[in-house]
Amino acid sequence: SLDISTFTKQTGLTTVDYGFVNTAATKSAITYIDGDQGILRYRGYPIEQVATSLTYLETAWLLIYGELPSASELSEFDERIRRHTLLHEDLKRFFDALPHNAHPMSVLSSGVSALSTYYQDSLNPHKPEDVEISTIRLLAKLPVMAAYAHKKSLGQAFLYPDNSLSFVDNFLRLNFGTMAEPYEVNPVLSKALERLLILHEDHEQNASTSTVRLVGSTEANMFASISAGINALFGPLHGGANEAVLTMLREIQESGEGVAKFVERVKNKEAGVRLMGFGHRVYKNYDPRAKLVKESADEVLTALGVQDPLLDIAKELEQVALSDDYFISRRLYPNVDFYTGVIYKAMGFPTRMFTVLFAIGRLPGWIAHWREMATDPQTKIGRPQQLYLGAPARDLPPR
Ligand code: ACO
Repeated sequence: SLDISTFTKQTGLTTVDYGFVNTAATKSAITYIDGDQGILRYRGYPIEQVATSLTYLETAWLLIYGELPSASELSEFDERIRRHTLLHEDLKRFFDALPHNAHPMSVLSSGVSALSTYYQDSLNPHKPEDVEISTIRLLAKLPVMAAYAHKKSLGQAFLYPDNSLSFVDNFLRLNFGTMAEPYEVNPVLSKALERLLILHEDHEQNASTSTVRLVGSTEANMFASISAGINALFGPLHGGANEAVLTMLREIQESGEGVAKFVERVKNKEAGVRLMGFGHRVYKNYDPRAKLVKESADEVLTALGVQDPLLDIAKELEQVALSDDYFISRRLYPNVDFYTGVIYKAMGFPTRMFTVLFAIGRLPGWIAHWREMATDPQTKIGRPQQLYLGAPARDLPPR
């Protein structure tokens, strides 16, 4: 069992691997994916069972601690998270200082980064009690900050969390409740959001998780590492895809060009035109999460009595793409984000909040990976090699 860095030193071999297509940066025991078969498992449990049987917090425990929680472990975990939902009052002024039209992902990453200014006494990655309290604080406060980012974009007053509510219901109230009247949680919305969050909880070494691990490998604290992960998630080729899908569907609707014409532009590789929500680095088959999301899309829209022509456009796009040789030969299928935007829109979230919802979903996975990285004796600071192709050694011209 020769360590890769020892092997590299012994053989003098360096590989160039753009996008890390073939390079494993770590070993991990959290999530298993078989992209050819379309299989995803959290700690060995199939995603189809996890997403339909567990809650967001139970799944978070499973990912972070490795096994399902007992009833008492779960209630203690839930209780601790409820006790930490409040934000420092000064943080509100921090949010106030940002422009009202700021993208909520920028607001969120800034807020998470700012957490390390409030908890300076518990940031030591080598102290288990610091890691534990940072875990609880992040799980409790990220949804509250996300809701603040949303309220800020609307110009509405922030609400205080209602800790008598469940994790997901509290989040819905913070987003859609107002100071003026009591908020009634719609159980259909609550169930659907819980499922979507669970489906996003982990996906092994994706760009944002790898970022969290890379930053964490420098022994930066958990808040700093996760703030970096949120920024990595922001891009349209990663978490930003759910927002980009809706923008694409709207453009198809408004232009009146029709699905077939749009697909032709994708196939002709017109600059900047991709079928957003399609394709995946790992899945070369239907993304198992996308199947579950598609089911939810129908359920939620029917239950809410919403008829959205964008859902019809999405379904038509999927049908056209899945029978087209361009997509078949490249093994491009809908990914998790193809239908999520339509559901978030029906729930009442503005498009710019979609990637924020992904971040709340992904948080337990980031935490689990950060902790796995921090406790792995083989962890080294992440430091890729490069192949230098620049100018050879030369002298500056005489002056
Ligand atoms: N639309 C059209 N063509 C595509 C798409 C797409 N969505 N995705 C890949 N292709 C084509 C590429 O043009 C390329 O074609 P070529 O061989 O003729 O050059 C081929 O398929 C392979 O594509 P790559 O870009 O090499 O695949 P890679 O694994 O690097 O990219 C990615 C994966 C980034 C997800 C890509 O499929 C994509 O851009 N999809 C759209 C954005 C998206 O939905 N992202 C969300 C990913 S899932 C997530 O983060 C939750």
